[in-house]
This record gives sequence, structure tokens and C-alpha cells, in this order.
Amino acid sequence: MLPFESFSYPFFDLNTSADHRALVSAHLATPGSPIPGDHTRGLRALYVHIPFCDSLCTFCPFVKSVGTPERITSYLRALHIELQTLGATPRMQAWEIDSVYIGGGTPSVLTTEQIAALMAAIRANFRLAADAEISFEFEVKSVSPEKFAALAELGITRVSFGVQSFDPTIREMVHITATLDQVYNAIGWAGEHFANTNLDMMVGFPGQDHAHARRDARLAAESGIASVSTYPVDYVMTLPGWQDRIRSGELPRPAALDERSRMFHEARQALLESMGEQNMYCFGPSDAPATRYMFSTLYGGYRDEAVGVGAGAYSFIRGLAWMNDADERLYAKTSGSGLLPITQSSPYHAYEKGLVFFPKRLTFDMRDLDVLGLGDVYADRIEGIVTAGHAELVGDTLRLTEPGKLVYSELMAHFFADPQQRLYQRIVNRLSQQVGVIDDHEWQAGADRVAAMGASNALPGASSRTRGKRLPLVGTPR
Ligand SMILES: C[S@@+](CC[C@H](N)C(=O)[O-])C[C@H]1O[C@@H](n2cnc3c(N)ncnc32)[C@H](O)[C@@H]1O
Ligand code: SF4
Repeated sequence: MLPFESFSYPFFDLNTSADHRALVSAHLATPGSPIPGDHTRGLRALYVHIPFCDSLCTFCPFVKSVGTPERITSYLRALHIELQTLGATPRMQAWEIDSVYIGGGTPSVLTTEQIAALMAAIRANFRLAADAEISFEFEVKSVSPEKFAALAELGITRVSFGVQSFDPTIREMVHITATLDQVYNAIGWAGEHFANTNLDMMVGFPGQDHAHARRDARLAAESGIASVSTYPVDYVMTLPGWQDRIRSGELPRPAALDERSRMFHEARQALLESMGEQNMYCFGPSDAPATRYMFSTLYGGYRDEAVGVGAGAYSFIRGLAWMNDADERLYAKTSGSGLLPITQSSPYHAYEKGLVFFPKRLTFDMRDLDVLGLGDVYADRIEGIVTAGHAELVGDTLRLTEPGKLVYSELMAHFFADPQQRLYQRIVNRLSQQVGVIDDHEWQAGADRVAAMGASNALPGASSRTRGKRLPLVGTPR
């Protein structure tokens, strides 16, 4: 596993001083054109960010804070204006939305009336497909049987929440304040209204060992939830305050990366004993589709596109990717005045994106290589991983093998386009300097494994540390 794998792709080049708002406005002013010769329709998603939680978990790097009723009201006013401004653009007028993801933060801290008004604003400004998946993230302290009934009534189709661990010691250590009784109650209530329910787990917490990880996975599988997502704790993208407490010895030092990688794969195996494998992180009924927003769009191919609204939201539409202001109050001020609240943008031409995320999705349609003009560029890299036994070809499908699953994140880096290699390296160099809880040899070992997959694509190690200011992480990784 690589020390830093929760990235969005392509990486932003932050060394630009362009007029980002003007670039985005121009991009949205045309309906867009299809990829020449490509007749496959990509998926389109709308992401809506609610940056408020009722309590904060120490590991969580997402844009969030504990809001007051006044701040939530003024944020929602700005969000409605952004939905209107964006929805009125020619590009959005031409879109049909396949999935909506209302995430955070914790959208369930909103009142039922606020959620109803938000859903009405989404439907008034965007055209949703008849079978659109509408996901809603919740946290167990802010739900009730009545609230789930109202969410179902509003047309929400999937609800998801984070348990992270069933171990009371770990939960307390990371400041998760909900009790396990509240967790089980919420699973029961959610199941009464939704077939598609999901809970998130994390593997590799400080002090966690293999037995913990397996037990946690089993408890998740037996909890009555329809699907379980399990993620390795990402110590790179996590909050600096938490890293400091680990560095200072206040918290136990987490197991080494290789050890955590083994724990993650043991947790996966434990889930597979009773659930089907939907992708690298998600387990559930084999016939049920995994999150359309997450695994078909965010981790999808170049033809899949998403637009994000709210503080820190990330958008990628072929040609251009951009980010909204991550400061919730500045966001509210800018958006409230009718301007698009954009602070960063970057050219976005990543035909190889489907290959980069293929190891997370487990399969790749080889017919896309020629349609997207990648055949010559990637033939050697694909042959290399097939020869090494990391993938196999079954008809037109490239499929990750069991040995390939053990190095899935290195395989993602193997498919980076060369300019993206350099940007990734720059990010890793800066992050390695500021993180400190990842040892130099862990960065180097990951880089060596990528290099071993094909010399043309070698990532230099990050041991020559550079000083740098904290780099904002791109997007909403999950
Ligand atoms: C942004 S949270 C929103 C869910 C909701 N607020 C909750 O906590 O129930 C989405 C998921 O991201 C994952 N996550 C957060 N911080 C992470 C980290 N440092 N490394 C890996 N996954 C993380 C957790 O599994 C979490 O449930
Ligand atoms: S994991 Fe969820 S509840 Fe915890 S701080 Fe992050 S967004 Fe908030």
C-alpha cells in the first residue's frame, strides 16, 4: 500500500495564478462536446457538501466544524444560491444527473425542513434521471425513525454513516461520542425505510492489531446493514493535530504501513466470508450496485463528470477541474453574493483516469483503450502487470487478481500519466515533510514497488524532504 492513496485524480497544479472564476464560468457557458468517436455515455453526478457535525472525530480531514443554527442557516442560503447560479449555466442545463451525493460533514444535522428545502432546490435547478441514486450521509446522534421516514419520502435512495470501529477504546480515542446502542438503533431504523444502507469502517488505528481488525469487520458484517465500506486509515490526509499527538507519544504509534496493509486485507477477507465484493473498499450483496457517485464517477473514467456545490466541493468536467472555497464563512459570503465561490482550478485532461482507478474498481473495459486513444501509450504497462500476475484478461475485461489486490495502490500510481507523476511527487514531498508519522522508508518502499512495475514510470522516493506550507488536499476523496 502507498502511504498516500486517498487522492482525487488528476492532481491540481497549484502553481497557477489564473482567474479561476473566469475560467470556470467560460467552461460552464457551453454545453460541451463528446469525446470524438466515443459513443458511450459517461455518468454525471452532483455532490452537495454540508460542512457541519455535532461532534468532531480527531482523524477526519474533511471540511467541517460544529455549526451554530445561525451559521447553518446562512450557509444553506448560500448553497441554494449556488445551486441556482450553477444550475442556470448552459452546461448544467444540458446535463441529466445520474447520482446526487449529499455528504459532509454530517448532512443529518440539518432539520427535516432544511433537508426538504435542499432537496426542492436540487430538483428545481437540476434535471435528475428517473433512476437517479440519491445518497445521504448521516451520523447516528442526529437521526430518528421519523427522520429516516422523511428522507425516504423526499426520494433519497441510499443512506450511509461511519462506525469506523466497534471497539469502545478506539472510539473513545478518536472522539466518536455515539454509543454502540445508538449505532444499532440507527441501523434498524434505516433498514425500515431503505434497501441500500451502508456503514463505513476504518482499519489501522493507533493501537489496533490484527485480531481487532478482524473482529471489527465481522461485527460490521453481522450488524444488519446492507453494505460495508472499509478504508485503511490514511495518516497523510488526516488532521495535523492528530499526527502531532501520535508523534508526541500521547497516542500509541500505529502499526507500520506493511502491517496495516495486511490488517486491511484481513478485514476484507473477514467481510468476504458473508458478503460479496463490490470493489476494493465496499462489500454487500453481489447483485447490488456499489455507490454510483463514488465508484462510477469519482473513481470512474474520463467520461464520468461531477459538479460539486458547497464549501470545499470539488468539480471535474472534461477540460477543467476546480475547487470551491473551503472556508465555510468565506464560501457563504461569496456564493451569497451570486458569484461562483471558486478558489482553484486546473486543466483536466486525464484520458487515463479509468486506468488509474481500475485497481479500486477491480475491472477495466479494454475497449476503452482504443476509443480514448490510450492503446499505444499503455500497452506495455498493461502487459507488465498481466505478466507479473497482478491482473488478467478475461475477454475484453482487465481484472485485478488476488495478488494484484495486495498492491492495488501501487498499481494506481503505475498508471499515472507522466506529468501527473511529477505533481504527485511534489505533493508527496511536501506531505512527507509535514506528516512525520510516516517513516522515510515507508515512502521509499512504496516508491520502490511502483518502480518495480515498470521503469518508465518510476516514482522517485520522498526522502529528500523539502520545506513547504501545508498543501490543501484536493477534493472529497470519499
Ligand atoms: C467525511 S465522513 C462523513 C460521514 C459521517 N459524517 C460520519 O462520520 O458518520 C466519510 C468517511 O470518511 C472516512 N474517513 C474519514 N477520515 C479518514 C481518514 N483519515 N482516513 C481514511 N478514511 C477516513 C470515514 O470512514 C468516514 O465515515
Ligand atoms: S468522520 Fe463524520 S462525524 Fe466525524 S468529523 Fe468527519 S465528517 Fe464529522
